[in-house]
Amino acid sequence: MVTEPGPAVPRHVAIVMDGNGRWANKRLMPRVVGHKFGVDALVNIIHASAARGIEYLTVFAFSSENWKRPQDEVSGLMNLVMVAVSKYLARMAEDGVRIRIIGDRSQVSEKVRAAWDHAETLTAGNRRITVSVAFNYGGRWDVVQACRRAMEAGLSPAELDEQVLSRYMSLSYAPDPDLFIRTGGEVRISNFLLWQTAYTELYFTDCLWPDFDERALDAALADYARRDRRFGRVKTDVDAGGQPRALPVAD
Ligand code: FPP
Repeated sequence: MVTEPGPAVPRHVAIVMDGNGRWANKRLMPRVVGHKFGVDALVNIIHASAARGIEYLTVFAFSSENWKRPQDEVSGLMNLVMVAVSKYLARMAEDGVRIRIIGDRSQVSEKVRAAWDHAETLTAGNRRITVSVAFNYGGRWDVVQACRRAMEAGLSPAELDEQVLSRYMSLSYAPDPDLFIRTGGEVRISNFLLWQTAYTELYFTDCLWPDFDERALDAALADYARRDRRFGRVKTDVDAGGQPRALPVAD
């Protein structure tokens, strides 16, 4: 039976890297230590994703709402950007990783902005895997900034449709995510890629992000490979002549 299996490996994986704080608390360490180990897990998953043929990886590193966290945690996370860029960027660049940042840069410090600019510039020519880091990002912000830019470009209401607006979204250079992973046991999207995940397969795991390793990634990919993606259509089967025929299956 043919049921739109789709490619076994997703082209684009989006991840909410949740659970760093609890991971650190369990070890009686400050939350920011959990984020530090979270960066190590991220670097590992970037290289593992590239090795598995994933073309786009988009990760939620700092949400528009994360400013409400304790000041020392916010500054710890900002500091980690500089540490991560100086510690890991060269190897990523060598490994064919292209880094893109999505989110509102106007609110972050000059130092953080410079680190992200450097990461983007150094890796601009790479295409093995594109890693988009959502930083000071919110899904609703993304829709609003896209509308605003479309209006600034002089589009009339009649010219605006889904395809046109997509060109103004932060991830306009990437296909929509095939697979969304959230670690840490919570089962929600938390204002991540609201526009882009309309038909994305969702996968939730209790694993805390610093523990998310290649085996955990493979478990998510195996689960994805079993999904039947229909994009709002009905299931199809083939008739005796090998032609697709519709099956009456509810979405
Ligand atoms: C959620 O865990 C995680 C974050 C808010 C930050 C995620 C950031 C990283 C993994 C580091 C990436 C950083 C760079 C510089 C690329 P949580 O703190 O909400 O954990 P909890 O739910 O256990 O409290």
